[in-house]
Amino acid sequence: MSKEYKIAVIPGDGTGPEVVAEGIKALKALSQKCGLKLELEEFDLGGEKYLKDGTLLSDNTLDELKEKDAIYLGAIGHPDVAPGILERGLLLKMRFELDLYINLRPVVLLPGVDTPLKDKGPEHIDFVVVRENTEGLYAGSGGFFKRGSPDEMAIQESINTRKGVERCIRYAFDTCKRRNKKRLLTLCGKSNVLTYESDLWQRSFEEVHKDYPEVTTGYQHVDALCMWMIKNPEQFDVIVTNNMFGDIITDIGAIIQGGLGIAAGGNINPEGTSMFEPIGGSAPKYTGLDVINPLGAISAAQMMLEYLGEEEAGGVLLEAIKKVVKNDLESLEAGKMGYGTKEVGDLVVSYI
Ligand code: IPM
Ligand code: MN
Repeated sequence: MSKEYKIAVIPGDGTGPEVVAEGIKALKALSQKCGLKLELEEFDLGGEKYLKDGTLLSDNTLDELKEKDAIYLGAIGHPDVAPGILERGLLLKMRFELDLYINLRPVVLLPGVDTPLKDKGPEHIDFVVVRENTEGLYAGSGGFFKRGSPDEMAIQESINTRKGVERCIRYAFDTCKRRNKKRLLTLCGKSNVLTYESDLWQRSFEEVHKDYPEVTTGYQHVDALCMWMIKNPEQFDVIVTNNMFGDIITDIGAIIQGGLGIAAGGNINPEGTSMFEPIGGSAPKYTGLDVINPLGAISAAQMMLEYLGEEEAGGVLLEAIKKVVKNDLESLEAGKMGYGTKEVGDLVVSYI
């Protein structure tokens, strides 16, 4: 019998609660079908909560989250809260404090899903981006000097620690080996300009490679890699990169796999509690209209199950998602699916 998992659910802002509700619907159906045991606890965090009482993420809440087996997140971001407050005070704080040092973002085009790439199909788009998730430009190092004056300056520094870089690269090699597809790991950097940062990444990459002789490696500058993701995505298997480049290239990844309606990611601490989220944001303009696509959130739940080692339930859910996109949905875009948010959730459940 499978173990009982304690899951923290953070519906969050905007369309977050709507899509998370559909993910939970699918998880409950899987509990019936596969004997999966989940104990869900909801946490009221996000823009509304912050506007009400100023709470972002307390140390107590962080401690409670650390006790969970996983965290299931909807979206963070509120139109009435200045940019940066919720992102830094909540999302990035969770990533940093829980040491979620990997942001794992699969880019897979499922059969039946439209891609904006001409002449490309599911056989061309199937790779994984391993994004460093706790350092780089996101570390928040820097500051202003003489802000607001004619002499002002702003410094934003990229922090890359040997330990942080190496553990990310090692995770990427492991992922590549485990996937067992092309066994090709591509390092994405900017060694012609970021001569310190990319130098550390490249040296660490070469050293860790010695432990994985079965993996072939390559290197691409981030600008060229953006181009190749569009021109020849079939060349990629696993890509490893820093936090900022990973943020940017995974938006390209999301759009070529069918858009933010389906893209999902895992914020992973292999030794601790990991967090799973749809990549699409809080989408304020679609909030409460029952038009947003819940498949990104449902796919995040699917990643969570696989991560927890619930292969059977994860497999059943993946097949259900595949059937919905192949047989039912007209489009993956909000308002164009041919079904409402809840109906898409119901379709997934019907295939479970
Ligand atoms: C993402 C998002 C976040 C990031 C924002 C909301 C801070 O864009 O998860 O990719 O930049 O990491
Ligand atoms: Mn992003």
